[in-house]
Amino acid sequence: MSFEKPEFAAHLGCIASHWGDALAENRYDAAVVPAGAPAMYYQDDQAPPFHPNPHFARFFPDDSCAGSVLLVRPGANPKLYFSQPGGYWHLSPSLPDWADAFDVETHDDDEALLRSLVQDLARHSRVALVGPDETFSANLPLAAVNPERLVNQLVFARATKTPFEVARMREATAIGVRGHLAARDAFRSGGSEFDIHMAYLAASGQEESKLPYPNIIALNEHAGILHYQHYDREPPARGHSFLIDAGGRSGGYHADITRTYSANPGDDFDALVTALDEKQQALVGEIRPGLSYVDLHTRMHHETADLLVRFGLIRCSAESAFDRKITDAFFPHGLGHLLGLQTHDVGGKLANADGDEVESPERFPSLRYTREIDLGHVFTVEPGLYFIPMLLETLHDSEAGTDVNWAKVDALRPCGGIRIEDNVVVTSDGADNLTRPAFAQIDQPGA
Ligand code: GLY
Ligand code: MN
Ligand code: MN
Repeated sequence: MSFEKPEFAAHLGCIASHWGDALAENRYDAAVVPAGAPAMYYQDDQAPPFHPNPHFARFFPDDSCAGSVLLVRPGANPKLYFSQPGGYWHLSPSLPDWADAFDVETHDDDEALLRSLVQDLARHSRVALVGPDETFSANLPLAAVNPERLVNQLVFARATKTPFEVARMREATAIGVRGHLAARDAFRSGGSEFDIHMAYLAASGQEESKLPYPNIIALNEHAGILHYQHYDREPPARGHSFLIDAGGRSGGYHADITRTYSANPGDDFDALVTALDEKQQALVGEIRPGLSYVDLHTRMHHETADLLVRFGLIRCSAESAFDRKITDAFFPHGLGHLLGLQTHDVGGKLANADGDEVESPERFPSLRYTREIDLGHVFTVEPGLYFIPMLLETLHDSEAGTDVNWAKVDALRPCGGIRIEDNVVVTSDGADNLTRPAFAQIDQPGA
């Protein structure tokens, strides 16, 4: 991964200074931050794709870091102990050119790396470890392992992205959008879920193990399985719909994008997709620093009720549909979540850096982002409207079931559902949508 060095240096300066303040405030004079190492499968010498400790990745935005460690100290440049194992079984990782922003030591074996770290720590009296603790607490003089207060402060701050991070997320978005457009074309050409998945990987230039999350490529009723994880090799006999939730990664930062298409332009499902898309964009237009995401989520339930009435899916009023939780059967997930080095970035429920939490409302327990929207936060806005047999059955058998126009609902069941998901960064007076401009720009002849 290559970046502009000054852009990275500014990012590093910003987070190193914040870490320095947090360490000093918690009376630690150093933090050891391991990248972590691949966790092998049981009784095996193979491991799932390696995901570095996100606290490490924020300093070192590249995946080639297994076994490396950072030493962060207030007022000092972070020191990187870069693990560069030799041998002829694997390609040895090379140090990116931007890494010269750190004080760097490279080591070709773990024990030498640990010895050097132990030597350096002799100069410190209170050291905290932040990250996975594999061999460290047994070998290092640590005052604390993942102390709650310090970790909460770091996690709370991570929601606010630096310009460098936003730039990575724009790149991740462009990568994802290239895949989305090829996937849409593969769908329109009659491809199977597997064909569409492969078209996505090729066009976005991503290998499967490096995706931010497994692609959701759902034709027809599969769109009603929220995290559908299978890829049928045969196209369905009759096409109704296509939902794709697939992202991109750049410098470890994620994009998380969903689009839904009708197989039959101009049909009722197509109109419903367009209507939900309009609601989603209106919602993005409401975003401001200081707004409660819980309120935005609640507002989307009212909008969902409005759609159900407008499309003749229910016979009661929108208010009544909201009050009687009819909307919960059609929109059963949270409106969105923080996004960054993780697809569901941590810290969405922290009320403050002290670790107090804003609980999800009782009615919406799956909402992952309950804290106040703030300048620089990056998050998703992903309303959905689904026809999920299990939830519809419960609705059918409830008191509210008589207010549902089942003939209309049943006609839409083969389409599975709709989700529209964009990623936004909060500005001083609104939100910058990272996703829409990328579609507009890349979906051009010759782009
Ligand atoms: N792609 C998973 C999600 O949207 O949360
Ligand atoms: Mn999402
Ligand atoms: Mn998604």
